[in-house]
Amino acid sequence: MINLQSVTKRYPGGDDVLVNVDLQIAGGQMVVLLGPSGAGKSTLLKLMGGIERASTGAVEIFGQDTARLDPGRLALVRQQIGLIFEDFKLLADRNALDNVLVPLEIAGYAPTEARRRARAALERVGLGTRESARPATLSGGEQQRLCIARAVVSRPALILADEPTGNLDADQAASIADMLRAFHAAGTTVVVATHDPLFRDRLQGRALHVEAGQVRSIQAPPGQAKVPR
Ligand SMILES: Nc1ncnc2c1ncn2[C@@H]1O[C@H](COP(=O)(O)OP(=O)(O)O)[C@@H](O)[C@H]1O
Ligand SMILES: [Mg+2]
Repeated sequence: MINLQSVTKRYPGGDDVLVNVDLQIAGGQMVVLLGPSGAGKSTLLKLMGGIERASTGAVEIFGQDTARLDPGRLALVRQQIGLIFEDFKLLADRNALDNVLVPLEIAGYAPTEARRRARAALERVGLGTRESARPATLSGGEQQRLCIARAVVSRPALILADEPTGNLDADQAASIADMLRAFHAAGTTVVVATHDPLFRDRLQGRALHVEAGQVRSIQAPPGQAKVPR
């Protein structure tokens, strides 16, 4: 599903964020990225989403080397990926329902079916009564949930989520974890960066630690890596 081979990433003028990273994520896996702020978790997700390019090495998504894809083909790959990122990129001049409709319109759904699916996705994140609201009139947590609804509405093969619960309370975070687990149970590959230990435990994924340019497996099963109170 995702294959990073000897990937090094540096931003212009900066130090290496990732150094010679080899990482395989098989289809259907649930992966949780942990590690300190600034370690490169968001960068890793952006490489996996074809948003950033590796400085050296190869990034394959769905078996395709992203560096060799022309913009049109890269766009097709991106259509199969549900992105939940820190900066929400919601369309300010569209209401909540119309924001969730965007990926369905791109995927070519008939309008009636698209609206049915978009409403179901809004219900699922607890925004069923807010479909007419513009993003600016929603709270930070509601905007985050709207972003999640938009990311999952077209049932992408791969969901990439960057700190998806940063603006949510514990109950909302738990419900988002359960939703991601339901997608995982249905065969979707899910990669989530989080520093929220409760959220991480509830996801029960394969844990990877990102630090000092490296990505390492964390062997302790979920629940046994908890910080003592
Ligand atoms: N667009 C960018 N341009 C320059 N430096 C960046 C950019 N994005 C991230 N960085 C730097 O790369 C490092 C890793 O950032 P990031 O991937 O956001 O880490 P994390 O998500 O783990 O907090 C940080 O030092 C950050 O300042
Ligand atoms: Mg980050």
